[in-house]
Amino acid sequence: MLNNLKPLPADKILMLSGLFRADERSTKIDLGVGVYKDASGHTPIMRAVKKAEKQLWETEDTKTYTSLPGDAGFHKAMADVVLADSVDRARLACCATPGGTGAIHNVLETIKMANPDTTVWVSNPTWGNHLSILKHLGIKFEAYDYFDDDTCAIDFTGMIASLQNVQAGDTVLLHGCCHNPTGANLNQTQWNQVADLLLEKGATPFIDIAYQGFGDGLDNDAYGTRLLASKFDEMMIAASCSKNFGIYRERTGIVLAISADADAAKITQGTLSYMNRQNFSFPPDHGARLVTMVLSDPALRADWEAELEEVRSGMLVLRQLLADALRSETGSDRFGFIAEHRGMFSRLGLTKDQVLELRDTHAIYMVDDSRINIAGLNRKNVPIIAKAVASVIS
Ligand code: LMR
Repeated sequence: MLNNLKPLPADKILMLSGLFRADERSTKIDLGVGVYKDASGHTPIMRAVKKAEKQLWETEDTKTYTSLPGDAGFHKAMADVVLADSVDRARLACCATPGGTGAIHNVLETIKMANPDTTVWVSNPTWGNHLSILKHLGIKFEAYDYFDDDTCAIDFTGMIASLQNVQAGDTVLLHGCCHNPTGANLNQTQWNQVADLLLEKGATPFIDIAYQGFGDGLDNDAYGTRLLASKFDEMMIAASCSKNFGIYRERTGIVLAISADADAAKITQGTLSYMNRQNFSFPPDHGARLVTMVLSDPALRADWEAELEEVRSGMLVLRQLLADALRSETGSDRFGFIAEHRGMFSRLGLTKDQVLELRDTHAIYMVDDSRINIAGLNRKNVPIIAKAVASVIS
């Protein structure tokens, strides 16, 4: 039977991590997978998370199952972080999942069950795994224009023009903040326009928010999500705690689903729980419990917010450093957008050949589409990267 299997396309981001590990050059630089790293290249455990973990170790007295949709305390804490007071909690169904990817999967399966004919609209470009999961689940999808390759900014006119083709009942997937892979984000006026257009079209928004707090701060990064939540009868959200709590391997994510009223929300809740049961039964609890403890304890929360802010402002400094270094190496403003972008990524606008030359000749690893992880930069490697980029584009 297994003889029938055909090789599947490798995930480009994860494949790159493998290539980087195998590279024996001591000068190699990793700007690939979206994992936060400090100046020494280490991915630290956040202070508040470590303290919560210690408390949990001392106080946890059972490892029995939680409930199928996960712990209610986690639901409440995460709903407050993501949605604040934008929506009546009676209309909200929540479900803990293994990471943000688990939440995306659960949302898409639920959407497919609710409306097998829906077309899911995704930004061009989007995170590669969005497309992979959509294909895996056999869900129709279309791309809407999003990024202008020449300016490396949002092509908002193109975006609005393509969203004019959305049909009633379609789903529109938007990145809540810190767009992956481009780093180019909607401003508040643009979010308002998108919200009005999608309302007019009768579409259902689906927000993937994986980097809240990495862009313009916890509340600013949730602006679009909360705006849509306050306006739409129905909406789906997949949120990840991997990055903003730094608990990548704990696999902690959540589905937040808004239904038209409390009765409909009960059915949505049952469906989300059913999806968990079919796919993996109970969700992992360790990371979710740490998140709940950090968010519910004022001292832990203050420390978490302070450290998240250090991470965010540190990435802004690195953005500026790289933009400046590229300006002086290339003698042009071509890469000025790096300082304007927000979040963990920017797409540099290099060709695939240039990206491969950076990898082969300079041991600098970035995703094929020239996406870089800003947290992979530091004061030592920025001048090296700027020189190398200038040399491959000359
Ligand atoms: C990324 O885009 O690099 C991250 O979201 C990690 C991943 O799983 O792809």
